[in-house]
Amino acid sequence: MPEQHLVLIGLMAAGKSVVGRSFAARHGLPYVDTDQLVVEEYGPIPEIFANHGERYFREAEARAVAGALAAPERSVVSLGGGAVLDSGTQQGLREATVVFLDTDLATVRPRISRSGHRPLLTGDPVVRWSALAEERRPIYESLADIVIDTRGLAVPEVVERITAALDEGEH
Ligand code: S3P
Repeated sequence: MPEQHLVLIGLMAAGKSVVGRSFAARHGLPYVDTDQLVVEEYGPIPEIFANHGERYFREAEARAVAGALAAPERSVVSLGGGAVLDSGTQQGLREATVVFLDTDLATVRPRISRSGHRPLLTGDPVVRWSALAEERRPIYESLADIVIDTRGLAVPEVVERITAALDEGEH
């Protein structure tokens, strides 16, 4: 197991939070969800977007990520889907072990259709998610040390795959 933080990245509804929490519990590590940090400080994400706009949210998110990555104790950190757009965050991730949880529309479709808490999916969630997937997949791939194709896998299986990839020692 690497000594660096383990950071989960990927699109909305890819399972970053549930996998992160489960991986952390399995390995006895602290767990941090950067969306949660932003909510604790600024309130619900839809309200932040509505009252202050996306840029304000991104700045708050970048600070939350920087704080999480600066923690001295090794932890598991789930990032919001768009956190990787920030160049400072991209830089910070070089010091972490980054896991991209890849997925596809068929898998997330049932989850995103009731995504009222995700302002970037308002309108047609399927169209919006697909556009973001196309735009961001190259960024996730370029930042990742480990890519897990989560399609068809239950959460414990994803946790096992991450554990196995880390144990292989290449990261
Ligand atoms: C966003 C993803 C969300 C949240 C915000 C914006 C994005 O987090 O940070 O709604 O830009 O992809 P999840 O990926 O945890 O849904």
